[in-house]
Amino acid sequence: MSLSKFISAKMSAIDRALDGFLPKASTKPATIHKAMRYSLFAGGKRLRPILALASAELCEGSATDAMPAACAVECIHTYSLIHDDLPCMDDDDLRRGRPTSHKVFGEGIAVLAGDALLTIAFEILAKSSGSKRHTPAMMVQELAAASGSRWLIAGQVMDIEGEGAAVSKSALRFIHQAKTAALLTCALRLGAMSANATPSKLQSITEFGQALGLAFQVIDDILDVTQTTEKLGKTAGKDVAATKATYPALFGLERARAVAHELTDKATAALKPFGKKGDIMREISNSLLVREY
Ligand code: IPE
Ligand code: IPE
Ligand code: MG
Ligand code: MG
Ligand code: MG
Repeated sequence: MSLSKFISAKMSAIDRALDGFLPKASTKPATIHKAMRYSLFAGGKRLRPILALASAELCEGSATDAMPAACAVECIHTYSLIHDDLPCMDDDDLRRGRPTSHKVFGEGIAVLAGDALLTIAFEILAKSSGSKRHTPAMMVQELAAASGSRWLIAGQVMDIEGEGAAVSKSALRFIHQAKTAALLTCALRLGAMSANATPSKLQSITEFGQALGLAFQVIDDILDVTQTTEKLGKTAGKDVAATKATYPALFGLERARAVAHELTDKATAALKPFGKKGDIMREISNSLLVREY
């Protein structure tokens, strides 16, 4: 199957599943359910759930078994974007090509829509049946840790504190690991866990995710400088305006591009034990290097 067919098939399955997991827009109070759906179905790339499903396949599991984990991660990711865009954080008016949640629903509802997506992620993940080696409780623990104050939130804290500050190379690396790579790795690990992955497969997938997650954020930083707002569906040039610590800011565009390539090579090297079965994952990784949004 070609990469684009693989991705579009997975995207529609993910959208159907998310639609089934979320309360209907008319559920009382309608405002919050409309707001949750507004951001969730705004046309994100669905990279994390796609990786969760691809990881399950790589470990010879099924998409059905991996779907609760895939959708749970997308809910966490979407919550993190709603909060990331708030005026008290990155203060962005545009997300996924639409006005941000707080622009449409007001700050109070946007905060609550984020809270509700964060919470429902665990309700959804708890529906996973787990596998012989990995219980649903173990999976819930993984998602909680990746999303919590030692990882995703840690990265967001340091990202804010890094504005206008002298951030070292290792601190920038940690920000990227924490705010982006941890959840992306978690998506891959949960997919593998639902497929009863062996410890050694889980280890390879973790190494793949950590490198790919870093590459993904380096590319996000590059796109912020090189792409248009229209293409990105979010405001371009925000990082320079906010004096964020980014790869292009610290090392220049050329070096940032080289780092993204190096990290992608490191990621695909971790797929070696999977042989040909890792081809789709390799293709996904390489396609992210040339993404335009
Ligand atoms: C944006 O993530 C935030 C980062 C962690 C870089 P994506 O680029 O995956 O955003 P969507 O889901 O496609 O909107
Ligand atoms: C966002 O990083 C990371 C999380 C939301 C956890 P950015 O602030 O760089 O993401 P964009 O560029 O707004 O999508
Ligand atoms: Mg941010
Ligand atoms: Mg932002
Ligand atoms: Mg960014």
